[in-house]
Amino acid sequence: MPATRFLRDYWQKRPLLIRCAFPDFKPPLSPDDLAGLACMDGALARIVVHDVPSSSRPGDARDPLPRTEKLHSGTRRNDDRWKVLTGPFDDATFARLPKTDWTLLVQDVDKWDSDTAALLDGFRFIPAWRIDDVMVSYAADGGGVGAHVDHYDVFLLQGVGQRRWAIDTRPNPPAAYRDDVELKLLRAFRPTHEWVLDPGDMLYLPPGVPHNGVATGECMTFSIGMRAPAASELLLDFAVHAADALPESRRFADPDLTPARDTGEIDDSALRRARRALGPAAKLLADEPFADWFGGFITRYRAAQSAAPRKRPFDRAALAERLPNAVFERDPWSRFAWRRHGRGARLYVAGNVFDAPLAWARELTGRAGAIEGWRLAKLPQRTRGMALLGTLVDAGYLHLRRR
Ligand code: SIN
Ligand code: CO
Repeated sequence: MPATRFLRDYWQKRPLLIRCAFPDFKPPLSPDDLAGLACMDGALARIVVHDVPSSSRPGDARDPLPRTEKLHSGTRRNDDRWKVLTGPFDDATFARLPKTDWTLLVQDVDKWDSDTAALLDGFRFIPAWRIDDVMVSYAADGGGVGAHVDHYDVFLLQGVGQRRWAIDTRPNPPAAYRDDVELKLLRAFRPTHEWVLDPGDMLYLPPGVPHNGVATGECMTFSIGMRAPAASELLLDFAVHAADALPESRRFADPDLTPARDTGEIDDSALRRARRALGPAAKLLADEPFADWFGGFITRYRAAQSAAPRKRPFDRAALAERLPNAVFERDPWSRFAWRRHGRGARLYVAGNVFDAPLAWARELTGRAGAIEGWRLAKLPQRTRGMALLGTLVDAGYLHLRRR
C-alpha cells in the first residue's frame, strides 16, 4: 500500500493489520540480548507478571474455554492480579519468574541497539521526530500487559513466535480503568476483532483503540511508538518558553486603582488587570476558572512556609461552644482573599479554594490582625460557616488563640 493511501485512510483513523509487512523478518536482537539490556543501568525495563487464577488455567475441568478466549473476554478475569517489576534486573530476577504469563518490556531499544534503530527505516514516510521509540517485549506463553489503550499511534511488529491481538474498534469504547492494578488496565474489554500475528506481520493502531496482546508460546514484539505530546505538556513547556521572552517590567499593574471596597476582595477590575498582564494567553480560561486560578496563585504567591495542619481535627461542638469568646489568628504565611461567586463567595487561602457564605468570606479576610469569634457568631448561614471554620482550623490556616 502506498504511504499516501495509508496516511489518508488509516493513520490516526482506524487500525490496519498488515500481513507480511516485513517479509522474512529477522529480529534485530534475541531474547537473550533483550534480557541483557534489561540488566543495564539506565535501560527502561519492566517485567509484568500476570497472576492467573487457577480456575482460568487451561485444562481446568470447571472451565473448558480455551485460554485465549478467556484472556480477551474482558470482565471474566477481574479476580486476576498483575505484578509490575521495574529494572534494572539481574539473573536472579529472571530465574525466579514463572514458566508462563509474564513479559519483559524494554523501551527505547533503538537508542541502545543500531540494528533495532534500523527498523525505523521502514517508517521514513513519517517525520522522524514524530517517532518516540522502539519498545521490545519478550513474553513467555500467556504473557502480555493486559487490555489497555495507548494515547499515541503504534505499529506492533511481530518479531519472534506468535501473539494473539484482540482490539475493540467500536466508537467511544468504555474507558474506565481497574483501580486494583498499578497498570492502567481497562475494567471492561470486549474485542471486535482478533488475529494471531506471525513474525513479520504488523498491526497498526491509532490512539485510543483498546487492545490486548497475549503471547501464544514464547514471543517477541517490536512496538514502534509515536510521540504525541499531551496538550497540557505542550502548554507547560510553551508557557516557560514564552515567559522567558517577557521583560521583567511587564507585570500586574493597577495605576487606575480606586479605594478598596473590601480589602480581602478580588474584584472584577483586579481580574481584568490580571488578564491584561497575561496578554493573549489569558484567553485560554473562561472567567470562572480564570478567577479561581488567580485567587489560588495570588494567595500562594511567595509563601516561604506553609501552615501546619492540626494532628487531630478540632472537635466541632467544642469549637461552636467556644466561638463567642474565641479569637482566631490567621497563619502568617497563609494569605486569605475572596471573590464574589453567585450569591456566595469563593474563599482563597494559600492556594486553596473554598466555597464560602459571603459574610463569612468577608469577615475572615476583612481585617488585619485577629478575627473575633463573637463577630463570626453573629453571621448568617452558621452551619456552612462553622463547617468552613472547622476546615480552616484543622488545616492550620487559622489558629485559635486562648484568651
Ligand atoms: C507488548 O509488546 O506486549 C505491548 C505492546 C502494547 O500493547 O502497546
Ligand atoms: Co499498547
